[in-house]
Amino acid sequence: MSAPERTPDEAAPLLEVRDLRKVFASGGWLAGGHRVRVHAVDTVSFILRSGETLGLVGETGSGKSTVGRLVLRLVEPTAGRIRLDGEDLTALSTREMRRRRREVQMVFQDPYGSLDPRMKVGALVAEPMVVHGTWRGAGRERVAEVVHKVGLHEGHLDRYPHEFSGGQRQRIGIARAMALRPRVLVLDEPVSALDVSIQAQIINLLRDLQQESGMGFLFIAHDLAVVRHVSDRVAVMYLGRIVEIGPRDAIYRAPAHPYTLSLLSAVPVPEASAARVRNRVVLHGEIGSATRLPEGCRFHPRCYLARLKAREGGVPTVEHEGDRLPEVCVRRDPEAVELAPGHEAACHFPEGVGGRSEVAERAMDFASGG
Ligand SMILES: Nc1ncnc2c1ncn2[C@@H]1O[C@H](COP(=O)(O)OP(=O)(O)OP(=O)(O)O)[C@@H](O)[C@H]1O
Ligand code: SF4
Ligand SMILES: [Mg+2]
Repeated sequence: MSAPERTPDEAAPLLEVRDLRKVFASGGWLAGGHRVRVHAVDTVSFILRSGETLGLVGETGSGKSTVGRLVLRLVEPTAGRIRLDGEDLTALSTREMRRRRREVQMVFQDPYGSLDPRMKVGALVAEPMVVHGTWRGAGRERVAEVVHKVGLHEGHLDRYPHEFSGGQRQRIGIARAMALRPRVLVLDEPVSALDVSIQAQIINLLRDLQQESGMGFLFIAHDLAVVRHVSDRVAVMYLGRIVEIGPRDAIYRAPAHPYTLSLLSAVPVPEASAARVRNRVVLHGEIGSATRLPEGCRFHPRCYLARLKAREGGVPTVEHEGDRLPEVCVRRDPEAVELAPGHEAACHFPEGVGGRSEVAERAMDFASGG
């Protein structure tokens, strides 16, 4: 977290996610008797190294929490592989999975909702150790140690969650997740519900814990300023797919995917896009439906770069739902293209919008109505 950027090959992956998919069968039915299927996560791949924070951003419904829950096997993947230290978790038996599950823990946005209000703090922090069979012996000392690490004290152990402030409750949630000495922590919007000053305290706490233990963090958040602050690398999700992933500074200073640029332009982020985001890139419409993914590139219904490319000519175009678009955007789902070591974007025009300034200028003028 906030560490100097690492080179991509410096450390072997702690966690490796490959071609992960999750299709939920929702309650509804389609004509013809087919169940409504929600493509929540659609072919997602990434790695996470020890001591590294990967930020995961994207609009609501893009599939971020489902990725986190899949990594913990709280939901079963439809397809794909999740490797921890090279061991494929998806191939493990329930008993073997129990052994490894303690190495991957989760911190939630709403610590109050995830803490049983009838249990005292001591019991809440001890519970994962009891469940995973690591309580006997040094359990009591571990509770005291971990409570101290998160900035609480032993006098707090005998109290109930409602007696604490939001920030303190999040400390309890972190202590609970830390009790089993996990190697990977999935943090799902861990500071979104907290005041800004408290956010900073929790972020500093997480950074200290990571530096001490070498945990890898998958940090899910809406707030791009927070993600910039905490992440070594950033992955941007759109409708179940990672559309861009790369070192934090590359993503913020030279975004290659038009969706990333539009996200960055929507909020004031220090140093965003090399200060080139002077116009706000307004996206048309809402994020599409995960029950019916668009054909071709899933971003095409909202993509201003596609419209710019079609207007500028030089590529075969088609008339599509009242718009002229490059044929390739409507027909083919783009593969991820590596633009620089570790920096990938899934777009048919991989020169992108940030990598070449004149394209960025034209795209932003175009998107903002110029
Ligand atoms: N158990 C479920 N059954 C059916 N659909 C689900 C289920 N869980 C999630 N979804 C759907 O999967 C998609 C992705 O949801 P997810 O919660 O992962 O998104 P998110 O990026 O975390 O959104 P937010 O930012 O609002 O937390 C959404 O369309 C959501 O409605
Ligand atoms: S492939 Fe086409 S529609 Fe998709 S992001 Fe790139 S330009 Fe836009
Ligand atoms: Mg979520």
